Amino acid sequence: MSLLVIFFTCGPSVGAEGVANMPVFRRKVSVLCVTITLNVFLCLLVVLSWNPKRDRSEKIRIPSKKFWRQQVLSKSFWNREQQRLDFFYNPVLNSVLSGGDSLVELPDWLNDTGPLDPCEPDPRVPAQISDYNSLPQRFQDFLLHMRCRTYPMLINQPHLCDEKPFLLLVVKSLIPHFDRRQAIRETWGRAGVVANQTVATIFLLGNTLSSDNFPDLLGMLNHEAALHKDLLQWDYRDTFFNLTVKEVLFLEWFSQNCPHAQFILKGDDDVFVNTLRIIELLQNISQSRAKDLFIGDVISNAGPHRNRKLKYFIPESVFAGQYPPYAGGGGYLYTGELALQLYNVSQQVVLYPIDDVYTGMCLKKLGLVPEKHSGFRTFGIEKKYRDNPCAYRSLMLVHSLTPQEMLRIWHWIIHPELHCQ
Ligand SMILES: *[C@@H]1O[C@H](CO)[C@@H](O)[C@H](O)[C@H]1NC(C)=O
Ligand SMILES: *[C@@H]1O[C@H](CO)[C@@H](O)[C@H](O)[C@H]1NC(C)=O
Ligand SMILES: *[C@@H]1O[C@H](CO)[C@@H](O)[C@H](O)[C@H]1NC(C)=O
Ligand SMILES: *[C@@H]1O[C@H](CO)[C@@H](O)[C@H](O)[C@H]1NC(C)=O
Ligand SMILES: *[C@@H]1O[C@H](CO)[C@@H](O)[C@H](O)[C@H]1NC(C)=O
Repeated sequence: MSLLVIFFTCGPSVGAEGVANMPVFRRKVSVLCVTITLNVFLCLLVVLSWNPKRDRSEKIRIPSKKFWRQQVLSKSFWNREQQRLDFFYNPVLNSVLSGGDSLVELPDWLNDTGPLDPCEPDPRVPAQISDYNSLPQRFQDFLLHMRCRTYPMLINQPHLCDEKPFLLLVVKSLIPHFDRRQAIRETWGRAGVVANQTVATIFLLGNTLSSDNFPDLLGMLNHEAALHKDLLQWDYRDTFFNLTVKEVLFLEWFSQNCPHAQFILKGDDDVFVNTLRIIELLQNISQSRAKDLFIGDVISNAGPHRNRKLKYFIPESVFAGQYPPYAGGGGYLYTGELALQLYNVSQQVVLYPIDDVYTGMCLKKLGLVPEKHSGFRTFGIEKKYRDNPCAYRSLMLVHSLTPQEMLRIWHWIIHPELHCQ
C-alpha cells in the first residue's frame, strides 16, 4: 500500500517538472524518489519478516549465555550479606523467582542453609570470615547474632503516646545510669507541655547479664519504671555493638505504639538538649518541608577505621567501602513519618555494628541525605565556651555532659534575666 502511494506521488511530480531546461533538477527528484521507494521497500521487508503472526509456530529465542555482567561477590562479610538482601528485595528478580521460572538459577552464594531461627547463633559465620578467630570478642558476638532483630520486651509503656506528642524525646540509656535519666527528667527531658507543645520522653534500655559480672539492679529498675512510666526495656545484652539492635527495636515500637508523634529527637543520655530551641526550630519549619526532615551533626565522606585500637575499628573482612552521610549518634532530629519509613526500609539493610552509620545506610536506601545543622554539637564545644551561659542559648544539642552540668546549664537557659545578643 505505502509503496503505491510513493509511486503515485513521485510519478506526477516528475511529469509536472518535466521541462527541458531543468534536467538537473529532474534528475535530483527522481534519485530522491528512488531512494525513498527503496527505503520504504526495505522497511516493509523488515516489518513483514518480524510479523509475530507469521512466527507464532516458532520458539522464542533465549540467549544461551548470560547477557548481563555477573555480580561480583564482595570479600567482606557484611557486604555479602547485603548483596543477598538486595537480591531478595529486588522486585524484578523476586517476581521471576516466585514465578518458579526454571531458567533462573539461584546463585550458590544465595543458597541459605543457615539456622531457621535467626536468633540462634549462626554456625556458618566463622567459616565465612577469613580472620574470624583473630577478631576481638565483640565482633564474634556481633557476627553470630547479626540476623536477630526480635528480643522479648521486658518493660513497655503502651500509653506513652496517648496524647499524640508534638515532640518525642528518645534517650539511649543503660540500666545503671539512674542519675543521668533523673537529670534529664528534671531538665531538658521534662515531659508535658513545653512552649505550648506536648513533649513525651522515653528511655531505651537493653539488659545486663550476670555472666558479664553486672550487679542485679532489676529491683531498682522496676521501681523506677513504675514511678516514672518512661522506660522501655528489651532482653538483649546492652553493648556498644548492639546499639543498632536498640535502634531497630525502637523503630518497631514506635510504628506500633506512637506512629502519630510529629517529631523525634533521639540522643544519648549524656547530651544536653535545648528543648526550647528545638521546638522553636520545628515551629519555624513549614509543614510541607517537614515530611522527611532529618537533621543533626552530619558526617560526610567517612569510612571505617582500620586501626584495631579504636572503638570504631571495623576490619576489612567485615566491611568494605565508604559510609553514606550520617548524623552523629549523640543526637539528631527527624519526623515521625520518616521513622515509619526507616522502620520499613531497615528490614532491607543488614545490621551494622555502629548504630548511627546504620541509620545513615537506611536513609540512603530511602534516597535521603541527612541535613547538617551547626546547632548540633555531638563532638562537644570549645572549652572557652563551656562556661558561657549564652553559648547554650543558641545551640540545639551538646555532647557530652554530666548530670550536674545538665542541671547547671538548664537553669541558665530558662533564666529570664539572662540577656544574650
Ligand atoms: C541449595 O543447596 C543445596 C545443597 O547444596 C541444594 O540441594 C539445593 O537445591 C540448593 N537450593 C537452591 C534453591 O539452589
Ligand atoms: C497554644 O496552642 C494552641 C493550640 O495549638 C493555640 O490555639 C494557642 O494559640 C497557642 N498559644 C500560644 C501562646 O502560642
Ligand atoms: C547482642 O545481644 C545478643 C542477645 O543478648 C547477644 O547474644 C550478643 O552477644 C550481643 N552482641 C554484642 C556484640 O554484644
Ligand atoms: C525562627 O524564626 C525566627 C523568625 O524568622 C528567627 O528569628 C529564629 O531565629 C528562628 N528560630 C530558629 C530556632 O530557627
Ligand atoms: C512499608 O512498606 C509497605 C510494603 O513494602 C508499604 O505498603 C507501606 O506503605 C510502607 N510504609 C511506609 C510508612 O513507608
